[in-house]
Amino acid sequence: MKRFAVIGQPVAHSLSPRIHAAFAAAAGIELDYQALAIDEADLATRLDALHDEGWAGFNVTLPHKQTVMARCEDLSEAARRAGAVNTLTRTDSGWQGDNTDGTGLVRDLARAGVVTAGQRVLILGAGGAARGIIAPLLATRPASLVISNRNPWKPEALSEAFADLGTLTPRTHWALKGDAFDLVINATSAGHSGPMPPMPDELFADGAVAYDLSYGTAHAPFAEWAKAEGARVVHDGLGMLVEQAAASFARWHGVTPDTAPVLKALR
Ligand SMILES: NC(=O)c1ccc[n+]([C@@H]2O[C@H](COP(=O)([O-])OP(=O)(O)OC[C@H]3O[C@@H](n4cnc5c(N)ncnc54)[C@H](OP(=O)(O)O)[C@@H]3O)[C@@H](O)[C@H]2O)c1
Repeated sequence: MKRFAVIGQPVAHSLSPRIHAAFAAAAGIELDYQALAIDEADLATRLDALHDEGWAGFNVTLPHKQTVMARCEDLSEAARRAGAVNTLTRTDSGWQGDNTDGTGLVRDLARAGVVTAGQRVLILGAGGAARGIIAPLLATRPASLVISNRNPWKPEALSEAFADLGTLTPRTHWALKGDAFDLVINATSAGHSGPMPPMPDELFADGAVAYDLSYGTAHAPFAEWAKAEGARVVHDGLGMLVEQAAASFARWHGVTPDTAPVLKALR
């Protein structure tokens, strides 16, 4: 039986083993999928050893999503653009790196009936996850895509990095004052440590949708803020998590899983 795992530190909390087990059961595939805690200092040697042991693929979570790129002999366009890898696939001589987070978001938006084409879209946050969703969002042809962040330099750098794919307008949070959006995507990790950072009022246009990459307890501060600011509906990132896992699963097993029952079971 081929062996797979999610690698990170910490990793015991990860839902990935449960999600991949559910996909495999539905597809009639026998699967060995584990959670392997790997310290940053050990990443290179552990990946070499795991390759020698014949492991077939890994999902990659914090803190390795960026650093693991240096251990890949080949990177997909999505991983190169994202500057991060969340899926490793074994080759005879090493590891191929891919990033399915952006695909996961776009598929979950579609599942939830959230349209981005022709819409004014705002991304809050400019870290690794934000970087991974920019190219797929630009590909959906929004009317505008704006990115704002606490550190003002990161949106500027991302705007330049993605200029060949379309216009990504860089802002600080406060410079958003006076703008309104049809979709506000929270890609900050603020909810893990406290409330949402202060934001200008009236960012949500009439009927606007709010989408949070975070889920579980980390989703609560954004949900509370977005509802108070008038968002018509607020989505968390659990669907994105399931969809990015489905894209990895399809990459490894050649079967595209039905995500709806798995998402329902997790909820
Ligand atoms: N649903 C999914 O499948 C999925 C996939 C990937 C990530 N995520 C979630 O997405 C979130 C972001 O992850 P990441 O990998 O991008 O993290 P990251 O690279 O560490 O970036 C964190 C971002 O949040 C901002 N931030 C953090 N604390 C803040 C605060 N108190 N006030 C304002 N801004 C704050 C940072 O701003 P500065 O640059 O100013 O520090 C940065 O833009 C996490 O909650 C993660 O769990 C979900």
